Amino acid sequence: MGKVTVPLLRSMKGEKKITMLTAYDHPTAKIMDEAGIDTILVGDSVGPVVLGYPNTIPVTVDEMIHHTRAVARGIKRALLIIDMPFMSYQESIEQAKRNAGRMLKESGAEAVKLEGGVAMHDTIKAITEIDIPVCAHIGLTPQSIHRMGGYKVQGKGKDVEKLIADAKAVEDAGAFMVVLECVPRQLAKEITEMLTIPTIGIGGGPDCDGQVLVLHDLLGLLGSFQPKFVKQYRNLTEDITNAVKEYISDVESGGFPDDSQCFH
Ligand code: KIV
Repeated sequence: MGKVTVPLLRSMKGEKKITMLTAYDHPTAKIMDEAGIDTILVGDSVGPVVLGYPNTIPVTVDEMIHHTRAVARGIKRALLIIDMPFMSYQESIEQAKRNAGRMLKESGAEAVKLEGGVAMHDTIKAITEIDIPVCAHIGLTPQSIHRMGGYKVQGKGKDVEKLIADAKAVEDAGAFMVVLECVPRQLAKEITEMLTIPTIGIGGGPDCDGQVLVLHDLLGLLGSFQPKFVKQYRNLTEDITNAVKEYISDVESGGFPDDSQCFH
């Protein structure tokens, strides 16, 4: 399997589904890359998922670079995308270009992702014009949590037109791919058919050109709450709890270490 590139992903639209997962550390990225994932996203979900923040708002550019460098060292094939965190691109086009450039230079990522549609048109255009590939993200945009008042399905009722305008705007601005988060299935299908760039769904249904999930959701590492769009493939919370309990019990009973774990 050859290296995944931006042109390759674009050419996969309508031909082959694109797979994407999040990663935040070196060993996990290496496992996912060797398993054949197409794209790895170091999402700003690193904040709530591994840093214990309440949401993605506090995540910084330095934190994103720190985690992405670790992930980059584990990848040979997948395309690596880094999320631009809140207020690293919204202030001005100059700020957005400076941070996108720094994030690519210092992290090893090959593309950036940022949230927003029509409002981010000129920003996406400016970043792509300096040859930094941009993956857009519309629908439920977690950095807008306070405006939205929670993590809710977008693109219903009067918001349908807004979402379609957002999708057209990011394509027109030069984004090479767009994430559709928590969008009704039929609307995600229509947007996918309307655009020439691939759509990646997370709560967007099966008609998108590809799918993304947060790895910790897929592995059952985030406790009992599951968003509706998640398919939990394993329950590692249970596995880790049982392993740690066995270790405690072995140490306390003298069962670990035994002679095979000793030097002679
Ligand atoms: O930050 C993230 O992990 C994301 C994905 C859920 C798309 O934006």
